[in-house]
Amino acid sequence: MSLTNIQVQGQPVPRVSARNHSMRNSVVCGVSIKRHHRVSNVLSRKSGPSLGSIPIRTDESQFLRVDGTGKFGRFGGKFVPETLMSRLRVLEDEFNFEELTTTLRDYVGRETPLYFAGRLTEHYKNLARTTGGGGRSGGPDIYLKREDLSHGGSHKINNALAQAMIARRLGCSRVVAATGAGQHGVATAAACAKFSLECTVFMGTTDIEKQSSNVQSMKLLGAQVKSVEGTFKDASSEAIRNWVGNLETTYYLSGTVVGPHPCPVMVREFQSVTGKETRRQANQLWGGKPDVLVGCVGSGSNALGLFHEFVGDEDVRLVGVEAAGLGLDSGKHSATLAVGEIGDTRPHSIGVGLEYPGVGPEISFLKETGRAEFYTATDQEAIQACMLLSRLEGIIPALEASHALAFLDKLVPTLRDGTKVVLNCSGRGDKDLDTLMQRGIA
Ligand SMILES: Cc1ncc(COP(=O)(O)O)c(C=O)c1O
Repeated sequence: MSLTNIQVQGQPVPRVSARNHSMRNSVVCGVSIKRHHRVSNVLSRKSGPSLGSIPIRTDESQFLRVDGTGKFGRFGGKFVPETLMSRLRVLEDEFNFEELTTTLRDYVGRETPLYFAGRLTEHYKNLARTTGGGGRSGGPDIYLKREDLSHGGSHKINNALAQAMIARRLGCSRVVAATGAGQHGVATAAACAKFSLECTVFMGTTDIEKQSSNVQSMKLLGAQVKSVEGTFKDASSEAIRNWVGNLETTYYLSGTVVGPHPCPVMVREFQSVTGKETRRQANQLWGGKPDVLVGCVGSGSNALGLFHEFVGDEDVRLVGVEAAGLGLDSGKHSATLAVGEIGDTRPHSIGVGLEYPGVGPEISFLKETGRAEFYTATDQEAIQACMLLSRLEGIIPALEASHALAFLDKLVPTLRDGTKVVLNCSGRGDKDLDTLMQRGIA
């Protein structure tokens, strides 16, 4: 097995040569594709900081391979009308950016800390002591990857900024997006303000009600928030409809690892900064790798962002936690991977960002191949976990991230002493205070 340094932005989306591009004279966002190629060729010079470079294995790991069509096993691909094909090809070509590293540092505040949650760790050790724990007196060390400290309050900004840069390079004047929990909407609105792009965010009526503080933030950041009858699913359809009707001026900024290739790969690549930092920080903190990575799964972007760097490290467990909502037997859940049939369409979760009936192709592939494990946490368990972290660590996690935290109750007793667990604290919980107050908790 050999190790080599590759340019992050060059992997794994194959670059399409301008000369071979059959539609290079198409007009997109008012600028010919031919010109874009020149721009992207300059941007992709190896000398720039771009997304940095990481060591990855060049062995035959199936998890690090993706073909030019964006297929992960039987998942993924590019099933869209021909009118969108040229647009998606341009996206592939515009994947490289120089400014990103600097912007992530100075605007987002990266790198985010890998925080040792000492009191949470102690809580589980005490629990093991008092309950006997099968003679165990120790337990794992729990670390939080603090994406909640990112500008805007969640991991969503990593991807939104990078794609807003792409929109600007493409000459688009306008961005459309859809949001559920509102975190992607806030991130997109902030990125658009920064890059002087007009921003329209589509959001379901029920989500607007639940996440009103994020709606106010989006408006304050200059975005137009368009309400769509229903939930995130309906808002997504409306945003894409709007994009397709305005291809000349508008960029669709996808917030997670779903949709046609190259969207899932692109979003994962922009989010994988989390895992790369984690590897480096773990090495600094304890001179090794994490043993277990845990992330909540809505459609998969924060989990994959943490996991992807480690998929080739077979000694690192990858654990995704989906929303069991009111319980798996209730039919009101969003556990697409853990129990759902592919195509399940009855989502429910108190964590609005988990309330989506689909997951991305790459994370589906990790499930199907057995590389990652998937479990669930209910609404009630997530609320308890949110309260626990708030009181023990003074950190109010988003209800989405609280699902990952809730699973620690089941995971921790199965782990040997000293196991290093890294959990992606994907966002902060300020947006959820109304929901918690309605339940008499906050
Ligand atoms: C804080 C937070 N975590 C997690 C998610 C779930 O999305 P994903 O699975 O793409 O990370 C969301 C979605 O809005 C979110 O706001």
